[in-house]
Amino acid sequence: MWKGLNGCLCGVTAMFTGIETKNQPQTDMMTIEPIIGAGTLPALQQFVTATKLHPILVNFTAALVPVSIASDLAGRLRKDESLRHTAWWTLLVAMALTPFTALAGWLFWMHDDNGVLGMAIHKWLGTGLVGLLLGLFLWRLNLHRQRRTVTAPYLVAGGFLVVVLVVQGYLGGHQVFSGM
Ligand code: HEM
Repeated sequence: MWKGLNGCLCGVTAMFTGIETKNQPQTDMMTIEPIIGAGTLPALQQFVTATKLHPILVNFTAALVPVSIASDLAGRLRKDESLRHTAWWTLLVAMALTPFTALAGWLFWMHDDNGVLGMAIHKWLGTGLVGLLLGLFLWRLNLHRQRRTVTAPYLVAGGFLVVVLVVQGYLGGHQVFSGM
């Protein structure tokens, strides 16, 4: 169903804007008039495609989550309060941005991503990742409020999330760069 919806959305964009959503978006064709005329969703797709917002935002998610987990691990081992603060704030920012990373991914979907197994996994793993991150964030929030050091199970869960992120980044990068 989602595959159909994706195809349909791309079709709607092309119909209203005359711009095909491809790997190489024709940014030189863009003017403000078709964006206004296109409606909110196609306009958002066009904006995300032209600005490459998804590849920009993934860097924040991919950097902040591992930094947070590593800082918590180091903070626990060294009993260092400032490292714990680093872990908390980096996770907070990751939590604030990652839903937009995933949303931008949905809007960045292109025709040639359809039918690619790696991208189907990337789509659902990335969407699920937001839920996993939310779970980890709420766990960390609870520890933060109680002013407690993170527990070993928290670090294991965080390590698992980092592994999921690596797989996620690999799949996205593979689709973008494998043809080069
Ligand atoms: C939140 C977790 C996510 C992460 C960390 C992530 C990561 C990545 C990375 C690293 C790339 C390669 C970007 C580049 O260097 O150009 C990429 C590409 C892409 N991602 Fe994601 N992604 C996430 C979620 C999603 C979701 C939920 C979707 C869509 C439903 C999605 C759709 C795409 C698409 C369409 C591409 C470009 C593929 C192409 O060029 O054909 N991503 N992603």
